Amino acid sequence: MNKTLAEITRTDFPLLQNYSRGDQNLIYFDHAATSQKPFKVIKDLETYYSYWNANVHRGAHQLSAKATQDFEKSRIITANFVGSNSPEEIIFTRNATEAINLVSRSWGDKEIKEGDEIILTIMEHHSNLVPWQLLSERTGCILKYAGITESGELDIDDLKNKLTNRTKLISLVHISNVLGCCNPIAEVSKLAKAVNANVLVDACQSLAHQSINVRKLGIDFLVGSSHKLCGPTGIGFLWAKEEILEEMPPFLGGGEMIQDVFLEKSTWADLPHKFEAGTPAIGEAIGMGSALKYLEKIGMDNIQAWEKILINHMFNKLSNIRDLTILGPTPTIQPKRGALATFHIKGVHANDIAEILDAKNICIRSGHHCCQPLHRYYGIASSARASLSFTSTMEEIDTFVEELIETIDFLKSNS
Ligand code: ALA
Repeated sequence: MNKTLAEITRTDFPLLQNYSRGDQNLIYFDHAATSQKPFKVIKDLETYYSYWNANVHRGAHQLSAKATQDFEKSRIITANFVGSNSPEEIIFTRNATEAINLVSRSWGDKEIKEGDEIILTIMEHHSNLVPWQLLSERTGCILKYAGITESGELDIDDLKNKLTNRTKLISLVHISNVLGCCNPIAEVSKLAKAVNANVLVDACQSLAHQSINVRKLGIDFLVGSSHKLCGPTGIGFLWAKEEILEEMPPFLGGGEMIQDVFLEKSTWADLPHKFEAGTPAIGEAIGMGSALKYLEKIGMDNIQAWEKILINHMFNKLSNIRDLTILGPTPTIQPKRGALATFHIKGVHANDIAEILDAKNICIRSGHHCCQPLHRYYGIASSARASLSFTSTMEEIDTFVEELIETIDFLKSNS
């Protein structure tokens, strides 16, 4: 019999091999918060620090040359991973949040004027809300929020109704970290282009789960975070069209991002360095490149296909649990939805569920998942979320659901 993708890849991950409590193997269903890291990525980080550790772009010596070569190779890998025309369109940042702040501070402060409009959605992560609220305070621009449908998908008609010739940007998530819905980015881009607006996509929850091509999507900005892509923390990236980046002023000032510095003024380095002030996260960038190569080797289409089987199974199982409501579209309504299930249960607190499951060696997330406005919309303070990856198995889902049912019964009988 053919092996499943989980059987093929699971042994690549030390933590998934090594972690157990008693005879209970770990079930890690919190991949949307952060992914586990394969041996290869850990090894490449170790190799950099053990053999090539040096600063980049500055030294004439051999270590600096090798570190620079590997660092810049990661930029090329990242550009290829998202279908960019050029590595100069990739700006390394600390994470996706910093990338959105970079756009709002640099592009936003330059291009957005009082009365201009930015469309967001009510399902956005705080990282795609707060930077625009700050921009609105600085400039007087107007923020509008597209709603969601009853099934928990983007309400595209509502978005169309909010679009005007004053709209300058639509900034939205690709796959929601709560609803799991996959938003129709190409369609949103067409609508935006009709009024000359730009589109920013938060791809944190989609990049590790499906193949993405920024040119095909017709967007202007895309942000991602390495730690959700099997890579290290402390590094993420902004992709933006070269012509837009050329016009944007620097975000942070300092070394690396300059061409010439005088006492009165300075001039800026070429792309992408204009946006990378100070010593960058060199090892982390190399680790991210290694992680993206690892994902490419598995194949993004293979990942998407296996995770689709998993999430169908998860929804079938969860939908039989009394009083449990799943947020977001079912896989029947939206076959391209993400491999996560966020739910709440009448009369049971999500944190209690997560704590009891943790005692059974099952890691899920509970809380508002940095989406307070969305939870307010549903009239709940928190929810529980089980998020999968290509290393997840059908057996893990079965065990998780059995233990969840037991946990709910226990909590209800003690309430
Ligand atoms: N935003 C991440 C999550 O949804 C951390 O868990």
